[in-house]
Amino acid sequence: MTLAIIGGTGLTQLEELRIIGRQTLHTPFGSPSAEYLFGDINGTQLIFLARHGNPHRIPPHKINYRANIWGLKQLGVTDVIGVAAVGGIGEHMQPAQIAVPEQLIDYTYGREHSFFADNLEHVTHIDFTDPYTPALRNRIIQAADNAGLEICRFGTYGCTQGPRLETRAEIKRMAQDGCDLVGMTGMPEAALARELDMAYANISVVANWAAGLGDGEITMAEIEKNLQIGMTKATELLKAIAVLPV
Ligand code: HPA
Repeated sequence: MTLAIIGGTGLTQLEELRIIGRQTLHTPFGSPSAEYLFGDINGTQLIFLARHGNPHRIPPHKINYRANIWGLKQLGVTDVIGVAAVGGIGEHMQPAQIAVPEQLIDYTYGREHSFFADNLEHVTHIDFTDPYTPALRNRIIQAADNAGLEICRFGTYGCTQGPRLETRAEIKRMAQDGCDLVGMTGMPEAALARELDMAYANISVVANWAAGLGDGEITMAEIEKNLQIGMTKATELLKAIAVLPV
């Protein structure tokens, strides 16, 4: 297994990673968000990519998801964990909580979302019944148990277009649709990994109650405070995943 971590907002750098190499790649789909970092955590080698670039500068709807995922495949990655900041909708998804969703709903539009978009002779309709690879999800859950970390091991992630946050009514509708979490970067990342036959799972870090569910306006100060706590837990989790025997 060759593991890659895609770090989102609040995880531009993985402090725990001892960096042993870096590579800038160009792909048929353009340039990935940043250079790929090769490193190890407690002796386990992995690859890290900052989804929004380093420094953090690419908004969710401008990320070249295809280049990012294509690059990982080129580097021999078999398993991808996407870490993402989200808003909490479900009652268990309070700020600073960590969740490993099992389902998703895609509300994005206008994103380059398939490797089969241009060559229509080779369209492949991937099965996406379970968008997150069960074996990789189980691995994350096992690691959390080993490390004594309390995480939410269920949930549906709703992916919105951004970069603005949602309206009250949009969140109400998403709750009715069955969404427990709302983020802006989960798609098309998950589907692209599946198209290239890589295992993919998501670790969501709740930054705020979604629009209309908390007290008043959502502020950047609140988001940053919760992300700091949540990403510290997520980093602990990543360390526990890295040391889990394959
Ligand atoms: N909505 C969408 N994406 C997010 C949110 C939110 O409330 N918080 C962090 N990322």
